[in-house]
Amino acid sequence: MGHADSRTTPADALVIFGVTGDLAHKMIFPALYAMARRGVLNVPVVGVAASKWSLAQLRKRATDSIRHAGRIDDRAAFEHLLSLLRYVGGDYTDLATFKALKQALGDARRPAHYLAIPPALFATVIKGLGTADLADQARVIVEKPFGRDLASARELNRIALSVFAEDAIFRIDHYLGKEAIMNILYFRFANSFLEPIWNRNHVASVQITLAEDFGVNGRGAFYESAGCLRDVIQNHLFQIAALLAMEPPAYQGYGAVHSEKAKVFQAMRPLHPDDVVRGQYAGYRKEPGVAKDSDVETFCALRLFIDSWRWEGVPWYLRSGKCLAATAAEVLVELKPPPQRLFDDSAPLAGRANYLRFRLSPNSAVALAARVKRAGKEFVGDQRELYLLDAQPGEETPYERLLGDAMAGDGALFTREDAVEAAWAVVDPVLDTHHRAHRYKPGSWGPKQADALIAAHGSWHNPIPVKAAK
Ligand code: BG6
Repeated sequence: MGHADSRTTPADALVIFGVTGDLAHKMIFPALYAMARRGVLNVPVVGVAASKWSLAQLRKRATDSIRHAGRIDDRAAFEHLLSLLRYVGGDYTDLATFKALKQALGDARRPAHYLAIPPALFATVIKGLGTADLADQARVIVEKPFGRDLASARELNRIALSVFAEDAIFRIDHYLGKEAIMNILYFRFANSFLEPIWNRNHVASVQITLAEDFGVNGRGAFYESAGCLRDVIQNHLFQIAALLAMEPPAYQGYGAVHSEKAKVFQAMRPLHPDDVVRGQYAGYRKEPGVAKDSDVETFCALRLFIDSWRWEGVPWYLRSGKCLAATAAEVLVELKPPPQRLFDDSAPLAGRANYLRFRLSPNSAVALAARVKRAGKEFVGDQRELYLLDAQPGEETPYERLLGDAMAGDGALFTREDAVEAAWAVVDPVLDTHHRAHRYKPGSWGPKQADALIAAHGSWHNPIPVKAAK
């Protein structure tokens, strides 16, 4: 994708709010180290947080984090990163913190401010940046979740846009920085064979599954305020759906992709409680930070419709959950069976019709399944996969890619205001009005009610765990 926008002057500093927090430890320092190794991190990195830390403490934390993520295998790059670090401690509600930040920024005029902080603090920090005159020519990178419903997303957009221009706001959805997900866009529009069948005439249904075989892992309190629908479906799974469902972008450039994705969300039918099956794994209520009578869902399955010319009548099934039988993400686009049953084993009697499968994680692949005849007198056969493996060595991690892009002013892999709000509008009706969560066994594929949701159009395709997968 090209990027013809004017705001592509590189940032001359990176500011990380929440630098002492979990996200910085898990994701940001390792990404910065990877950037330093590639030689693309050459600006001051100013950490900001409430704690009264010294620079030495920040350097120690960065070292810990990088060691935790892997080996320090490039001493020079590592030392270079440490030399770029600065630290500003202070309360985000205190203007003095922003004044100290301004001082720490020195000559830098075009900082990228990364808000790696709890969402409740987004507005305070954005306003602080505005008041302290730190927003002009700057960019702001906002972590998910971007709002917790339509009203709060609108309010957050209003505040962000009162201080920054839309093309200076970089809303992160780290799924957009994954190679296998970028490949959906590429695969669809770099090939011509797909387009004639990519519509309601040939596609019977689409399934997207994001399964994790682990629980909330100490994030109970966060999960209580989110739940699976907010945590991964409204953002990560919807972004995948949009890339699969969008019309071809009209020109080369990310503005065109953003517009087509936004139209998909606008065409999605708002959800009804009967389109949603919520589940909770047995044992969730014993997790630290979780209410003893919690009804928060750790599993969610949806039936969605996109009321567009292309997709009218095609059901989209989205599903995600914690403590499931595997850790894997996969898309299955199931095609309609041939119109006539010429052979005894023609679909749907002999299982699935032809399909296209996108394996998104932990490995990536694209597979097209078609039936071929078995040798012998009978006209019977098997479904075989034509298999394209596209995992490549040297892939950038999503955070490395997204941080680099935001600093370079490239907004291709970030979400736009209208799309975020339209996606919230789809889930808004069922955020508070829904059926109770059904209990499911850890290690299973979720509650059986999810099978009933899809029964009219077949069954769930369960991705195989990586060890068993090709
Ligand atoms: C995060 C969610 O956004 O995405 C987590 O908060 C989830 O709950 C994670 O586990 C999944 O991301 P990935 O990249 O590990 O598939």
